[in-house]
Amino acid sequence: MTARYIGLMSGTSLDAIDLVMVEFGTPAITWWVKESTPFPADLRQAILTAQSTRTVTLPQIIEWEFRLGECYAKTILDHVSQEDLETVRAVGSHGQTLWHQPPGSDNPFPGSLQIGDPNIIAERTGRPVVADFRRMDMAAGGEGAPLVTAFHQQYLSHNNERRAIVNLGGIANITLLDGQRIVAGFDSGPANSLLDAWIQNTLQEACDVGGNWARQGRVNEVLLEAMLADPYFQRMPPKSTGREYFGLTWLRTCLEGFPEISAEDIQATLLELTAVTIVNSIQTLGFDTDRLILCGGGVNNAYLVQRIRAQAGCPVESSESYGLSPKWLEATAFAWLAMRRVQDQSGNVPESTGAHHAAILGGLYQPI
Ligand SMILES: Nc1ncnc2c1ncn2[C@@H]1O[C@H](COP(=O)(O)OP(=O)(O)O)[C@@H](O)[C@H]1O
Ligand SMILES: [Mg+2]
Repeated sequence: MTARYIGLMSGTSLDAIDLVMVEFGTPAITWWVKESTPFPADLRQAILTAQSTRTVTLPQIIEWEFRLGECYAKTILDHVSQEDLETVRAVGSHGQTLWHQPPGSDNPFPGSLQIGDPNIIAERTGRPVVADFRRMDMAAGGEGAPLVTAFHQQYLSHNNERRAIVNLGGIANITLLDGQRIVAGFDSGPANSLLDAWIQNTLQEACDVGGNWARQGRVNEVLLEAMLADPYFQRMPPKSTGREYFGLTWLRTCLEGFPEISAEDIQATLLELTAVTIVNSIQTLGFDTDRLILCGGGVNNAYLVQRIRAQAGCPVESSESYGLSPKWLEATAFAWLAMRRVQDQSGNVPESTGAHHAAILGGLYQPI
């Protein structure tokens, strides 16, 4: 039987723990399990507070490592039968990013901290676990992100097309593919992170469903220009970012000169910022896109998709059209990276992360 892999992903949005159990055939992927567990609400709040205040205590880190490790293990045990588990060669667990500090950020010491103890996952499930995917790339001089580039190339490239794959998570990450060739892979900036932060702050809602609140507002062009002046948007790739940077603090600083602007106009402007920075970052590289393929939770934001479509200048589709459900793509990519790890194959793309060389990503945690 072909080996199966489990992928566990909880992204910067802190919305859910996504789980897949998959088999990687050529060319097709078979999904045996696709399940999501909501992120524990108190932990979500505690992590968001820690990120926005940049403050956490040492016992808190231990507590969160433990609780998340248990939570990831329980997600697997709740949705994968013992019989199926025995067919799993390895689990790829991305972990929850507590802090991502790439080279080139204002701090001189690069690093990226994902928590959710992989030892606990290995012990509870009895399967090998691959975790800590980002730091080997960073040790080799890379951004440690994005890491889904090679997976995009493997499953979403087309010999005769120049494609942009755009993942709309908390942050937007983009892979540019000229046929099979990877031209670039980078974070363009915020996707949902600021939209989520502003609606949570103002209306206490988890997200702007369908972008309907943004749709009620009008884009404030002066505010948009002020936001676009942020140096991150001027930088050329390789580059990566996170909600540590594009969070409520960043937004409040931008809003200082705009006391009169209505809350829904701010939301409309933030949504436009996401669409504009995605399209601009591709055009700035002189990449003439034949097709733009969207994935990640933001695909469900109909207004965001509408605004990207209006500016892209090429067909815009969901990854669903290519047999890859946008919701499960990242978890599947980390299952694939776990496979690369156990096969001693590299997972990073130096052209994307800026690492000095290709590297085998992740630590391997073996159960008895
Ligand atoms: N129906 C929807 N309308 C608008 N936005 C949505 C909808 N469903 C999901 N989202 C957005 O997608 C985000 C989750 O996307 P996801 O790809 O899981 O991101 P991450 O990898 O950062 O966890 C949510 O936080 C939310 O902003
Ligand atoms: Mg998510």
